[in-house]
Amino acid sequence: MKIPLNIPSVSNLEKKYVTEAINQNWLSINGKNTKIFEKKFGILVKRKFTLAVQSGTAALHATLKGLGIKKNDNVIVPDYTCVSNLSAVSQCQAKAILVDLERDTLGLDYEKTKSAILKYKPKALQLVHVYGFPARDTIKIINLCKKKKIFVIEDGSESLGAELKNKKIGSFGDVSVFSVRSEKMIGVGEGGIITTNNKKIYDRIKLIASRNSPYRSTRDPYWKKYYTSGEGYNYLMPHLLGSVARAQVERFKKKILLKKIKVGALYRKIFKEKKITFTQKILPNHKPVFWLNSIFFKTLSEKQVQKVGEGLMKIGIEVRSGFWPLHDMPNFLSIKNKKKESAEIFRKTLVLPSSYNLNEKDIKFIYKKVVHLLNKYS
Ligand SMILES: Cc1ncc(COP(=O)(O)O)c(C=O)c1O
Repeated sequence: MKIPLNIPSVSNLEKKYVTEAINQNWLSINGKNTKIFEKKFGILVKRKFTLAVQSGTAALHATLKGLGIKKNDNVIVPDYTCVSNLSAVSQCQAKAILVDLERDTLGLDYEKTKSAILKYKPKALQLVHVYGFPARDTIKIINLCKKKKIFVIEDGSESLGAELKNKKIGSFGDVSVFSVRSEKMIGVGEGGIITTNNKKIYDRIKLIASRNSPYRSTRDPYWKKYYTSGEGYNYLMPHLLGSVARAQVERFKKKILLKKIKVGALYRKIFKEKKITFTQKILPNHKPVFWLNSIFFKTLSEKQVQKVGEGLMKIGIEVRSGFWPLHDMPNFLSIKNKKKESAEIFRKTLVLPSSYNLNEKDIKFIYKKVVHLLNKYS
């Protein structure tokens, strides 16, 4: 692709820390750089306890398990998000209650969430910030969940660095999780991280993500190492990935975040065609980070949008559709009724290249090509 969708920012610092891990001959869990990554990530999102794991999906699954979610429990999941949010619930044999989005930021809609809570009495709710934008109804939903004693799992995978009312995304949930796979705001290849202020919950999640074996540290007696207190998972992040992660978190603010915000601002300056709107709004007191920049074609049919997308792909501009609504996914235990808004966004959205290193010339080029194809197919 001439202009790929979203490339990671990798430098000599990543190489330095990976080499350090190799020179220490320590590739496994509990690596020094992984510990530093966890500490610095906690400072970034203002959380006391952090645990680096092998993917965002693992982060969600270990969190649900750590919160005690089990067979037939109900969990609210946004209909418009990555399928991992649904998979993690399914891995607990719990039932996903899929709730539709609001059109300002594509987050969970408060009124629809409220009626789902009253009807299905869920044990937990996943609150996802989509494409780098804080979800509009975050605070109202969290307050309602507090009242109803529902755990909130905040998913900031796409929105590291974003803020809502001067509070960091990743500091809102009872537990907050992030994917750090390669094309996220920071990326290590495949990875994730779990953050919380609750020591008890942290300890439970850590145990589950660490094979449910409580005696694995160097301080524990050697003869206890193989003891396991129940079903667990081998989810902890190994040192090579932790080393990349350390460099990414250290470079995040200056070398990644500022550039992503600049790309988002350039899109909003350059894209002025009346038949296109941005899929998400910048609301007062919201600081988005523009992980991905997405546009909505009001006047085109689904087929016409696909033609525009295919035309862009053909000339080397990599695009994606919106998320395929989760209510359409087969073979999951979920509440399946049609979700109007998520289906509409999926059909008429194009996600545009959003790499940190795009400049004004690149975005003007993308704009020209989008407008040309829009006129050709409308
Ligand atoms: C909101 C959200 N949650 C979870 C995940 C899953 O993370 P991973 O791919 O690291 O398993 C993703 C995508 O990668 C995501 O966008």
